[in-house]
This record gives sequence, structure tokens and C-alpha cells, in this order.
Amino acid sequence: MTSKELRQKYLDFFKSHGHTVIPSASLVPENDPTVLFTTAGMHPLVPYLLGEKHPGGARLANVQKCIRTGDIEEVGDISHHTFFEMLGNWSLGAPDANGIGAGYFKDEAIEWSWEFLTSPKWLGLDPHRLAVSVFAGDADSPRDEEAAKRWLDVSGRQLEGRIDYLPKNKNWWGPAGEAGPCGPDTETFYWVGDDTAPEKISQGDLADHPKWVEIWNNVFMQYNKNAGGGFEPLKQKNVDTGMGLERTLAVVNGLDDNYKTELFLPIVKKIEEISGKKYGESEEVTKAIRVIADHIKAAVFILGDDKAMAPSNTGQGYVLRRLIRRAVRYGKLNNLSASSHFFTADIGQVVIDMYKDVYAELEKNKNFILDNLTQEEEKFEKTIEKGMKEFEKLTKDKEISGEEAFVLFSTYGFPIELTKEIAAERGLTIDENSFRVAMEAHQELSRTASSGMFKGGLADAGEESKKYHTATHLLLAALRLVLRSSSEGGEVLGEEIYQKGSNITAERLRFDFNYPQKLTEEQIKKVEELVNKKIEEKIPVEMVEMPKEEALKLAKISFDPAKYGEVVKVYKIGGFSVELCGGPHVANTGELGHFKIAKEEASSAGVRRIKAVLE
Ligand code: ALA
Repeated sequence: MTSKELRQKYLDFFKSHGHTVIPSASLVPENDPTVLFTTAGMHPLVPYLLGEKHPGGARLANVQKCIRTGDIEEVGDISHHTFFEMLGNWSLGAPDANGIGAGYFKDEAIEWSWEFLTSPKWLGLDPHRLAVSVFAGDADSPRDEEAAKRWLDVSGRQLEGRIDYLPKNKNWWGPAGEAGPCGPDTETFYWVGDDTAPEKISQGDLADHPKWVEIWNNVFMQYNKNAGGGFEPLKQKNVDTGMGLERTLAVVNGLDDNYKTELFLPIVKKIEEISGKKYGESEEVTKAIRVIADHIKAAVFILGDDKAMAPSNTGQGYVLRRLIRRAVRYGKLNNLSASSHFFTADIGQVVIDMYKDVYAELEKNKNFILDNLTQEEEKFEKTIEKGMKEFEKLTKDKEISGEEAFVLFSTYGFPIELTKEIAAERGLTIDENSFRVAMEAHQELSRTASSGMFKGGLADAGEESKKYHTATHLLLAALRLVLRSSSEGGEVLGEEIYQKGSNITAERLRFDFNYPQKLTEEQIKKVEELVNKKIEEKIPVEMVEMPKEEALKLAKISFDPAKYGEVVKVYKIGGFSVELCGGPHVANTGELGHFKIAKEEASSAGVRRIKAVLE
């Protein structure tokens, strides 16, 4: 079975059970400061799990791109990845006692899981190789006998003896941050050994067994964890599920290693070609190839996201930097990269070709992806040599001080994790505590400029952010007008202006857009004047919800239309700006005050960044 077939089967199956297929959301969670990346399909759906109405209805299914870097150190074995795709189906609100609610709960979720996994029409997995875990129960939520019974029923008791009752640290999902929707889950495991699967398991077997691989998680989201740590019932009972595409593809095709599936094979082949090494020739080389394949793939998806960002020393940009540099270092460590040749873009190109049919943004952002990979590799190349020399000097002692580790980080671009890894290889230790102190002092300094952020309190901050949201729309419309008219004046402009990134605090907006060169002072002045004119005109900001097809006729978008749901919100500011956007916005441009561009600078190759304030 190909990955394409697997994605399609999953979506078709849930469509046949009344689900609306929704697009994958961005890898960068919108307005959610608790996570850097979307780590599961439920992230973008949190408002709907809490009760807001989703335009797609109460039953949704999708394939969501995800990044999890929590176990980056474990990448290198057969099944860990930082990037993966999650197949998911959701029920937003099961019928309550009065029959209100168009979703479903345990009965249907478990029945459909069993059918999809075992029916020859769908995955056709051998029931004897399946086992399930359910929640063991504690003071917050009862033992899930209901789920266990349902599994026995739908399987015709074939699962008898293979139901494991596991505690909260294993069979409970969420919340991602301190607070949020959560609940007990039930997980499906597949026996990946060549031998016959055990007919009966002992309690606890599924918690951590190399041959029982978890492929699907059904979460019965019925609680909200509050800030005080208590669990209160949610307004509605939901189902949130996640099935790992890569793992499931391996299992369905009888492969014992995810890197042997077609979701990795072309990347592995390319690395073999560049390096002259063979996957499987030694443990070390195999691990290195896996790390490189995974990390470059993840980097391509981060750079190719419509909310893309370039490598940097903070936030998502730092994770990206770390992924690329770690891949490069594994290349060097095993002589996988010829010293005269930058290799990350070659591999990146393979990733784009593999995925562009499903994720059109990769092809669209191709130049940005490849340029940034090479630039980062080049930067790292330059610093790594100097850094290694410094490292050798430092490592005369057995312990590397925090200050020294910080110098390696700030001057030579060595992520602390890399310093740690090299140190560990040589039997050295790092004083991590003092490193953290040095790092925090550094971050504090760089934060002060943009911070004081929410000094007016959260409510005020919300109001201020709204203004900046609206100002961002005015800015984009003004840029389009001003830069287009200057291109008529002789400058060559390859593309229309699109948003490449946006970040809003209560005190400023930051807006990234594609443009090949520095804006002139005159252009900046014209943009400011135009935005201020629209503010002075006191134009009402209107929002309408409409079918996507109709909206696309009105608004120019930089994203792949398939990335939007069928019904979208459109914000319109007179005849000046029309944008597909989730909001929120102010009611009238007259509320904005005076608009001023504080800074215009390069953000990354082909992308400019504007910081602007409302005074
Ligand atoms: N949110 C659940 C998970 O990611 C389905 O496992």
C-alpha cells in the first residue's frame, strides 16, 4: 500500500461515516503560545473541542502535519521521527441526555477503529496481531470498563486476553499546556515481530514493549484541566484520535523499519548516493542516515510552511537551526558529506518532490526552502571549524563550564545539545546549570526590547493585538499598491506580494513578505501615508463567512486553497483590503491611531520584514 492510498482510505472511511475532511493546519499553531509547533491534530481544534462551532460540523477527519522535538535524541532508531503525519478523526460533541449533539463517543469510535484496522476492505490487519490498552482509572476518572467491553464486542471477543489497563502516564492525553481539554484514551497496538503474536498478554506489557507498536490513539476528551490542576467535565464530550501515518504504513506493508517505507526510501537513497555509504552497513551509518533523513525532512516542512520562518536563535527558528545543524553534523561525523559540497539542499529537493502533490506549499516555497538550507549549512560550516578548535582548547579540562558552553553557542553557533553530544562522545561533562544561567541572562537582554509586552494586562493586550491584526491587513494592501506601482516605474517584480509571516504583540506588529530588495525611504513613506489615510477614513471592518470557492474569487491568497476549510471567514476593509483570516479585528479602522513603520529589514532570502507600531 502506498502512503497516498493509506491517506485516501482513511479519509474515505471517515467520509463514509459522515465526517467532513478538513485540511492540514499550519505547523505553527495560531495564537497558541503553549506549544512551538503543532504536535497533534487536535491543536488547531482546541476552540472547537471547548465548544465553539466548527464550520465543518461535528465530525471531522484530516491528515495533519506535525513536529515533535521532545524526543529528538531518540531519532536514529526504527520508529522515531521529529516530523510525521497524523491521521485523525474528531467528534465535536456526542449526543447528550436529550439527544442533542451530532457527534459520537466511545461506541462508534471503537467500532470504527476495529473495522478500519481489520476489514479486508480497509487495512485488513490480522486481528491476532492487535492488542489494546484502556485507562486503568484513578481519582480523576474511572477505570474504562466501557471501552474494554466495547473492544470485546466489536472484535467478537478476538481481543480477549489482550486488553491492558494502563495508568494516566500512559493512557491519558493532554493538555499540551498547563490547562486545556483532556481525557482517558484507548490505544491500539500491532505486533511487529516475525513470530506469532502472544495470544495473551500480561498487564503492563503494552506500556513499553519493543514488539508491540502503538499505531492509533482514541482519546475520549471529556474533561478540561483547569489552571489549578483540577479536572472538570467539558461542556461536550469529544473524541480526538491520532494514527501515525509512517508507522501504520510500515505495519501494513510488513516492514520492520519506518525508514524502509516509501516515505523515507527516496531520501535514504539520496543520502547513500551522496555519501557512498550504505544504509545498514553499520549501526553508526544507519543511525546517521536516519537522523539526516528525518531532520532534513522536518526542516523542509518548517521552511515550506506558509507561516515559514528562517533559522534563528529563538523559538521555532532555533528548533529549525538545531535540526539542520544536527543533520549536517551527522553528515560530517560519518563522512556523509563531501567536504566541498553542501548536501542539505540536494536532500531537501528529494523531500519536496516526494511530498509536493500532497503539500503544495513545498513546491510553492521551494526557493525559500532550498536557499535557507544551504545558507544555514554554509553558516554552520564556517563556524564549526572555528568552534571545534575552540572546543579542543576548552576540553583540556574534564568539565566544560557554562560560560564556555555559552561561548560555543553564541560565538560559534553550537547548540548546547550539540556541545553536549560531542562532550559525551569524549567522556566530558558540561556544567549545564551555569550554562542555563548564562543563557537566561542573554535571553533576558534580547527580550527586553520586544517585551513589557503585556504590561497593560491581558484584556488590554487583547484589544491592542486586535488593532495590530487590522493594521496588518492595511499594511499588506498598502504594500501591494505601493510596490506594484513602483514596479511599473521600471523595477522588475517577479511576484505578487504575499504574507510570509506575521507576529503580533500588544505593542507592535511584525510582518514578513516576499520582496527581493530593500524598500526605499520613499516607498516606506508612501506605505505609511496610505495606511494612515485608511485609518483617517474610519472604514468599518466587515466580516462575512462564505464558501471557500466564493472567497477565493475575492481575495488573493498566498496559501494553497486546499489548506482552507470549505467555509471561510473573510475580512473586508472597504474596497481596500479583502483577506481570508480567522480574526479577530477592530470594528472600524478609526480605532487604530497613527501608524508608523519602525523598521524595514531583510528577514531571509527574498523576504523582507517590517516592524510597525500604532501611536
Ligand atoms: N491527540 C492524540 C494523540 O496525539 C490523539 O495521540
